Parts: sequence; C-alpha cells; structure tokens
Amino acid sequence: MKSTDRGQQRQTRKDAEVTKEMAAPEGQAKGMDDRHHHNHQASVAQLCFAAAAPGFEPWVAQELRELGLASREVEGGAEFQAKIEQLAAIVRHLRVASRVLVRMAEGRVEDPSSVRGLVGRVAWTVLPAHPTRIALRLTAQGAPPDRIRWVQAELLRALCERFGADRVVASAVTEAPDDVALVARLDGRICSLSVDAGGKPLHLRGYRLEAGPAPMRETVAAAMLRAIGFGGHGTVWDPMCGSGTTLIEAALWGRELPRELGDFGVDQWRSKDLSVLSVRGAADPADGAVRLVGGDLDPDVLQIARRNAARAGVAERITWLDAELAAQRFESVEPGFVVTNPPYGQRLGGRNAARRLYERLGAVLARRCGGWRAAVLVPEQELARALPFRDLQLCSVDNGGLKVWLATGELAAGIRRGHARTRRP
Ligand SMILES: C[S@@+](CC[C@H](N)C(=O)[O-])C[C@H]1O[C@@H](n2cnc3c(N)ncnc32)[C@H](O)[C@@H]1O
Repeated sequence: MKSTDRGQQRQTRKDAEVTKEMAAPEGQAKGMDDRHHHNHQASVAQLCFAAAAPGFEPWVAQELRELGLASREVEGGAEFQAKIEQLAAIVRHLRVASRVLVRMAEGRVEDPSSVRGLVGRVAWTVLPAHPTRIALRLTAQGAPPDRIRWVQAELLRALCERFGADRVVASAVTEAPDDVALVARLDGRICSLSVDAGGKPLHLRGYRLEAGPAPMRETVAAAMLRAIGFGGHGTVWDPMCGSGTTLIEAALWGRELPRELGDFGVDQWRSKDLSVLSVRGAADPADGAVRLVGGDLDPDVLQIARRNAARAGVAERITWLDAELAAQRFESVEPGFVVTNPPYGQRLGGRNAARRLYERLGAVLARRCGGWRAAVLVPEQELARALPFRDLQLCSVDNGGLKVWLATGELAAGIRRGHARTRRP
C-alpha cells in the first residue's frame, strides 16, 4: 500500500491528533486509577504498529484488513488504528505479526524535563495499576551514540521517579504477566514511547510447548500459508510436519487463539476486553471445507505434533500419517496446498543427502500435486530447483535467526525443475 505525499501528511496530522488525545494529564500519581480518564482512553483509537519480519509486511497488512482494521504497510510492519479494548483480540488473531506496539507518546527530547514530560504523557491509567516491572527497550536511528545513551539514562531516571528503582529495568524481556514492555524509539531528536500489547513475541502462542528438531517459527508457518493464498479452506499437506506447526496454524486460521493458552501483556491492562473482532476466512470445522494432513517418518515427533494440536484445541481437525513422504496416502478432490520445511543439509549428513531428499520430494509432488500451490523452506536457493514449480518465486526469510529461502509457486505435474524469480528479501 503506497501513499502519496499528501496522504502521508494527512496521516501524520491524524497521528498527531491520536497522540494528543491519548495524552494523560501531567503529574498523575503513581498507580492512581481515574475511572473517567480510563474510560476515555479505552474508547479512543490508538495508533498501533504491527511489527513483521523483513518481507512479511504485506501479509501483516492483509491480516489487519481482514480484521476490519485500516492498515498502512510501512518498513518493518504495518500501522493501524485500534481501540485499547480491541487489542486482546487483535494479538490473538494476528499470526504473521511478531509484535503489536501501541503508541503512547511522542515528542522532542532535549533536556531532562522534556524526557520526564514524555514519560508523563503515557496513558499509565490503562496499564496495570501496580506492574511488577517496567522493562524499557530503546531502539534508535539517526542519533549519535552519546545521545542514545543519554536518552536511555534519562528515560530510566524518569521511570524510576515514577515507579521506584526496584521496578524499572533496561530489558527487552518481560517475566511477570503484568510487566509492562515499554519500547522507546529515538529518531534523531524525536522519541516515541509505545507499549508492547503482546508483552512477549506473538509467535509464542502457548500451544507449542514441545518440539522436534529444528521447529519453524509459528509466524513463518502462517506467512507461508498466506504466501500461497490459503484462506482457511482446502487441503493442506505437510509431508515433513515435525511438531505440527504448519497444520496447527492452518487449523487456527481466522480464529482467535484460545484464551486458555495463556495471557498476553494486554490481558493485564485495565481496559475492558470487548473482543469485538469478527474475521473473514475461518472454515467451519463441521463443513469439511478444510482438510489438514501432516505426515512424518518419525513417530515420536508425530506424538509431539498431536499433543501440540490438542493444546491448541484443534486435535480433531488434523489427520496425522506416520509414514515416509512417498507413502503418505490421503484423498483430495481439489488441488490444495503443500506447506513444508524439510530438514536442512547438516542434519541429513551433507549436501548430497539434502539434494537426494529434495529430488525425492520433487518426484512425489510432480506425481501427486500438479496444480497445487506449494510453500517450501529451503536452506539454499539451488535446492528449490529440484521441486516441480511452474512459476518458482524465492524470498529470503529469517526463521528464528537462521536465514533460509521461502520457495513458493504452483506445482506442475511431471516438471522437475523450476525457473526462479527472486523476490525482494
Ligand atoms: C525441519 S523438521 C520440520 C519441522 C516442523 N516444520 C516443525 O515446525 O516442527 C523436518 C522433519 O522432516 C522429517 N523427515 C525427514 N525426512 C523425511 C521423509 N523422507 N519423509 C517424511 N518425513 C521426513 C523429520 O523427521 C523432521 O521431523
């Protein structure tokens, strides 16, 4: 989504209005609850930012649109406006986004009093009344190291004055459920303060408490499904499913993550949770519109997949096949979606073994999956060419710190080699 300059100016004005509306009165006492002010905050749309891994921004913007939230794709994610009381549902609906940050205040930071003023403008009354800790993380661009250090020290000082030194820490990590994860962004002399509504990275959904070797990020699995146009309907097959991430993400498509899986930071906020979101795309489990099949040759890892699916509340929606990929049998009338993350070379005993496995996968897909769409994570671009893509696209992806390639496209019956077009990372 590209904006014109005029559009951007309008957006900036709008952002300024939102930030002004959100401003809490200066000098509010520690933990004081002002019901009127609280209600006002809760009903006002806040400027929010859904962070995404590089290359995933369009899919996050798409997820937000499906939730009925106008969104604007920006570098590193998508901006949107939402009310505080929608956030608990939003963090449970977004699957590709890695974090949701809620903008609380923004301003120039030139001296200690401007930093204190900025901290004072945060709407503390919507946050936990007595947080165990305020964890401050500062990111910066266009500012010299001296200023970055000074701003960090002044922010910590202002927070300590307000909450007490024992409750403030410079850290990206939250520990207690009511910790407040405060994210400061310094851009030249302008500093913004946001609160992380998830409190923790959103890929930590709460269902994958066990995993086999080299599990994929849940956010990457969701992005793979989106990349090939899965919309909650059709057959999804992962022939090397490991701990079941791709199938569980497909089963949860369009649904709110079950609350029993645990809290996100926003669940501890003092805003009323209205769960007002309705989403397009979810298939009714009873209507047979979605068929999810996970196979693996390792029976132990399939047991883990079953337990993860049960925790996610989707056990009955997935068929598990304990077999080598060529021997996995299931019925599918329409062309569906293959989403898989084969083992990387190291674990297979070298490049030749990896090539043989990809060729084997390629032969099976060519025989059985002509017309299907596929998303396959590959450690090297070259290996994707062993798969029968008709229109192979490659996109660089960060899978939990490991740089791999996401190969996507339509599969052709009988073709063994694809011609790659590389997409921007
Ligand atoms: C990288 S792991 C998949 C991880 C998975 N995406 C997750 O999130 O847990 C690769 C899996 O492929 C399985 N595998 C390897 N060769 C296979 C084959 N020929 N047929 C079926 N499964 C195979 C392994 O047992 C392993 O569980």
